[in-house]
Amino acid sequence: MKNSKLLTAVGNEDLSFKNRVFMAPMTRGRSKDQVANELTATYYAQRASAGLIFSEGTQISPQAIGWANTPGIYAPAQIAGWKKVTQAVHEAGGLIFAQLWHTGRASHPDFHGGKLPVAPSAVPFHSQAFTPEGVKPSVTPRELTIDEIKATIADYEKAAQAAKEAGFDGVEVHGANGYLPAQFLEDGPNKRTDDYGGTIEKRARFLLEATDAAIKVFGPARVSVRLSPRIPYNDMGDSNLEQTYMFAVEALEKKKIGILHFMESATLPEGLKPLAPEARKRFSGLLVLNVGYDQKSAEQALQTGLADAITFGTLFISNPDLPQRFGLDAPLATSDTSTYYSGSEEGYIDYPPLA
Ligand SMILES: Cc1cc2nc3c(=O)[nH]c(=O)nc-3n(C[C@H](O)[C@H](O)[C@H](O)COP(=O)(O)O)c2cc1C
Repeated sequence: MKNSKLLTAVGNEDLSFKNRVFMAPMTRGRSKDQVANELTATYYAQRASAGLIFSEGTQISPQAIGWANTPGIYAPAQIAGWKKVTQAVHEAGGLIFAQLWHTGRASHPDFHGGKLPVAPSAVPFHSQAFTPEGVKPSVTPRELTIDEIKATIADYEKAAQAAKEAGFDGVEVHGANGYLPAQFLEDGPNKRTDDYGGTIEKRARFLLEATDAAIKVFGPARVSVRLSPRIPYNDMGDSNLEQTYMFAVEALEKKKIGILHFMESATLPEGLKPLAPEARKRFSGLLVLNVGYDQKSAEQALQTGLADAITFGTLFISNPDLPQRFGLDAPLATSDTSTYYSGSEEGYIDYPPLA
């Protein structure tokens, strides 16, 4: 493509990315005992030509886990595992952020010795959990106490420190897809009447405190926050999505975080107001958009100034050298959904680069 902006560099005062083709965070279910391994290192190093890689969701504490065979970022063995990954990515010329993940109510008692997963409120929850024994119906969670909330924020800081020790270039607070920070933010799952529920200010507090914890460790420029207002996945809902999320965006702007990673389909159904332009108006750092972009729509979002970079998920699974393919207008391979979480090398590290 002529005059491609996708392949131009972008950055902030602290970081410089070689292109705007970023890799989206993707859980791949290849970590045994919650530890990233050699296979993980090979997979990410193969994709190091991305301007920035966001790691798969990585749990910040034992309580945070909610998906089988996913890695953590709190114990020494996990830090050692991730060191292999960051070294391999850096040697291949890439940059990688760790995505800090707490699944909250999206977890399952099977991960907690039969005890209930935690959430802002004990609201009945209709979804599914990916347990070690397969997919199971979700359960109604129990409400976190204020002391437990404070301890969870401290877990974000410890996890960010662990990420730094492991050699990550920054961290992303996973505030999207109906996981714990989003559960606090939206008024469907959050029925609290204390400092963490009720008004928008109070519902946003958990997300903002988790962000502060990350900033304490990495500084604002190396912190990303991921939000997904238009994605009802995990039984989410809010009575005023735009107001809620634009409050969050304005608060994150004040914190001067480096990246706002905003999920909203590139092709929204007609009649649904896109919120990405509203985020753009309010956020002066790097606005990274995701969901359903291809080369053409990504290029357009960059050319119009709507986005500073785009993350690609499924395209990076099957095209490890995606930026190069975009540059050459080369054909793209499609990914095999049956191996997304299969646990084996197949469908993970065996997608070949261009000959
Ligand atoms: C296999 C798979 C695993 C995913 N895991 C995560 C995850 O751990 N964290 C996250 O924020 N999003 C996750 N996502 C969502 C992706 O980051 C991305 O938003 C989605 O694939 C849409 O982008 P795309 O249209 O470019 O594929 C996952 C998506 C897929 C396909």
